Amino acid sequence: MAQATSSTSETIVGSTTTIVETTVEVRSVAPGKTKRQIDNLYPPKSHALQISKYGDTSVFQWAEVSTVQIQSPYDVIIKVSAAGVNPFDYKFRKGNYAVFGKVRFPLVLGLEFSGIVVAKGEKVNKVHLLDKIWGTIRGGCYSEFIRVNTATEYGVALKPTSISHIEAAGAPIGALSAYGALVTLGELPVGDKAEAGKHKVLIIGASGGVGTFAVQIAKVLCKAKVTAICSGANAELVRGLGADKVVDYTIQDFTADDNDYDVVVDCVGHQNDFYHKTIPLLKKKGTFVSVAYDNDDDKVSLGDLTKMGFQYVGRKFFGARKYRALYGVNRKDFSKLVPYFERHEIKTVVAEKFPLREAAKAHEKIETHRTAGKIILTT
Ligand SMILES: NC(=O)c1ccc[n+]([C@@H]2O[C@H](COP(=O)([O-])OP(=O)(O)OC[C@H]3O[C@@H](n4cnc5c(N)ncnc54)[C@H](OP(=O)(O)O)[C@@H]3O)[C@@H](O)[C@H]2O)c1
Repeated sequence: MAQATSSTSETIVGSTTTIVETTVEVRSVAPGKTKRQIDNLYPPKSHALQISKYGDTSVFQWAEVSTVQIQSPYDVIIKVSAAGVNPFDYKFRKGNYAVFGKVRFPLVLGLEFSGIVVAKGEKVNKVHLLDKIWGTIRGGCYSEFIRVNTATEYGVALKPTSISHIEAAGAPIGALSAYGALVTLGELPVGDKAEAGKHKVLIIGASGGVGTFAVQIAKVLCKAKVTAICSGANAELVRGLGADKVVDYTIQDFTADDNDYDVVVDCVGHQNDFYHKTIPLLKKKGTFVSVAYDNDDDKVSLGDLTKMGFQYVGRKFFGARKYRALYGVNRKDFSKLVPYFERHEIKTVVAEKFPLREAAKAHEKIETHRTAGKIILTT
């Protein structure tokens, strides 16, 4: 058995993570595959779905490009089988985050992928040609091929054979966000430290890309009692993920319900002001965690950042309960989550699949805020 080590450091709107080793058992590689078979998987020209400027979905361009090459001895080239779609992608496409700095166009969106290794640098000795790799990098996954530096990217691991590329591609960002919200910011104990039913969690937006993982992580890792908020149409889905109680917010005021939560996770945000609505539902030492801190449909302006800063400081120091906001994922946590996927204790809810070159349709869909689970692009 070979062991593979990979890692990632990342920024989604400004948050950095530290290096970590992701160790997963893998079959040592490619029995019976000839060099020619591998060369066929790695053509000199390929395609990437670029955006040429900020704007609506018409800015997508299916471009023929020179396939990425090894640049450092620690690089691997991955033939992407599937890429996950996140709200971050469409917000970035629209230019919502332009305030954070200039970018160089054309650029390729996409933070998560699953695929096959088709080339590797000379110092990569624990990952082999034709190994299947999944994870999250800082962008570029809406491509037929990506380059990943295994010495500097820490949210990448060997894909368990028990999950498909499609399930794998939709997992990293949602699962890491949910873990960050519940465990890192919500401070819920995990595994042996967690006591069954001791903690109580409210998840708002439980049927979405983050919420579906939040329900499962709260149940499986934190052994918490989970109340999930979603529309009636998604109630069965969310119950199936393990939620103890599901409240249909379209017909019921969930704030009039239980009031002894340890953690509230808001995966919806926008103008709903769930912070003030749910403060009375939290225990005295409870924590409100906002995953969706930015206004979904508008550009983030300097004024917004200032307002967010004041809001954060105000709530942190003067709020009736602890307030925390998730500003990015910590890729070092990926290795902690991999075994749960491998054992199918956590799974990706796949809402819909689109061919990569039709990502415009995927963006139109996710912009409706009605996606139950994850949208996946396939090559
Ligand atoms: N901070 C970070 O690092 C980070 C990371 C990932 C995501 N995010 C942000 O977190 C947010 C959620 O991401 P996501 O991937 O989960 O989005 P998503 O998949 O697009 O969320 C869609 C879900 O939102 C639910 N929803 C919409 N309005 C609702 C409401 N008023 N009450 C309850 N549920 C409602 C819908 O449920 P129903 O159809 O059942 O109503 C739908 O299932 C986005 O703003 C995203 O940008 C932040």
